[in-house]
Amino acid sequence: METKMFRIKDEEGEEGLCQAAKILRQGGLVAFPTETVYGLGANALDEEAARKIYAAKGRPSDNPLIAHISSMEELKPLVTEIPEMGRKLAEAFWPGPLTMVFPKSSQVPRGTTGGLDTVAVRMPAEETARRLIAMAGVPVAAPSANLSGRPSPTTAQHVWQDMNGRIDIILDGGPVGIGLESTIVDVSGDKPVLLRPGAITRRMLESVVGNVEIDPAILGKPEENIRPKAPGMKYRHYAPKADLTLVEGKERLVVEKINELVRNETEKGRRAGIICTEETKKSYAQGILRSVGKRSSQETIAHNLFAVLREFDDLQVDCIYSESFSRDDLGYAIMNRLTKASGYRTIYV
Ligand code: TXA
Ligand code: MG
Repeated sequence: METKMFRIKDEEGEEGLCQAAKILRQGGLVAFPTETVYGLGANALDEEAARKIYAAKGRPSDNPLIAHISSMEELKPLVTEIPEMGRKLAEAFWPGPLTMVFPKSSQVPRGTTGGLDTVAVRMPAEETARRLIAMAGVPVAAPSANLSGRPSPTTAQHVWQDMNGRIDIILDGGPVGIGLESTIVDVSGDKPVLLRPGAITRRMLESVVGNVEIDPAILGKPEENIRPKAPGMKYRHYAPKADLTLVEGKERLVVEKINELVRNETEKGRRAGIICTEETKKSYAQGILRSVGKRSSQETIAHNLFAVLREFDDLQVDCIYSESFSRDDLGYAIMNRLTKASGYRTIYV
C-alpha cells in the first residue's frame, strides 16, 4: 500500500483533510496529529476497519481502542449513560487530553472495544483532529500511531518510520504539544478511577469530582493476579529497543552511578545512551547524551521523552540509563511511562 503524506499547514492541507475524511468513511486508515501523540484512526463503528488498525500496529486485539469525537452530541450515541462525574469532567477538560471510559451502547462494536462492555471516548483539543472527525462524520477509533511496543509518535516522521506502507494517509501537523498520551479515567463505576496518568493530573481531576482512585496497575509491575482495568497497561509499552534502566536518588549520586555504569558498558565495547537534563548534562564523562530539558519544566520533559527514546533506537545503542524525575503533577505520567519503558528496572542510590 502506498502511504500519502499531507502537510496540514501548507496549501495541500485542505485537500489532505478531505481525502483523509473520505478514506475514514470508506473503512481505511489515517494517521493524524492530536495534542498528546499522533493517532492511527479508523471508523470506530466499523469492526472491519478496527481490525485493520490492529494489523497495521501488530497490536493484540484484546487491547481496546479510544473513540475520538469532535462534539458533545457525538458522545450520546456511543454510551448507555453519561454519569454525573463524566459530565462534569467533560465540561472541565474537553476538548483536551482526557479519555473517559463509559458503558458502551450497542452501536459500538466489540471489535473496537477489545470485547469489553465499556468504551473509552476522548474529544481532542487539536483543531486538525476535531475537523477530521467532523468531516468524516463518524467517531474515529485511534490508538497511538506507532508499531505495538514502540514509543508513541510525537512527530509525523515518527509515524512515517513505523507506518509507511501500512496505512493510507498521514496528516502532518508538525510536532505535538504534550508528548504523552491522554489521561484515562473510568467513570463507568461508582467512583472515578484513574487508569493512566497524563497531562490532566490527578489534582486537576480531584478539583472537579473529589477523590479519584488509582488503578493498582499504574503504581507498579502488574502482578499475575492484578488485571489492569486499561488492558493496554499490561503490555511492555513505550519500549525502546535497547534495555533501559532508571536510576533514582539524589541528583549527585544518580550522576555518579550512571557514570560508573556507562564506564563499565563502554569497557565491554557496548554503546550506552544517557537520558539526562540541562542541569546535569555537563556532569557525564562518556556515553551518548540526550537531554530531555530542564528539570524545572515538566512540560518540556514530557514533550521530549518519546522522541529521545526513538532517537536512541535510531542510534542503535546497546543500553540506556535514565535519570529519574519528580512524581508530582505531570511528573506522575512521565515516571509512569519511563518505568514501563524500563520494564520496571530501577536502581536506587
Ligand atoms: O492520547 C491518547 O490517548 C492517544 C491519542 C491518539 O488520542 N491514544 C492512545 O491510544 O494513547 P492507545 O490505544 O495507545 O491507548 C489506549 C489505552 C490502552 O491502554 C487501552 O487499554 C485503554 O486505553 N482503553 C481503551 N478502551 C478502554 C476501555 N473500554 N476500558 C479500559 N481501558 C481502555
Ligand atoms: Mg499506545
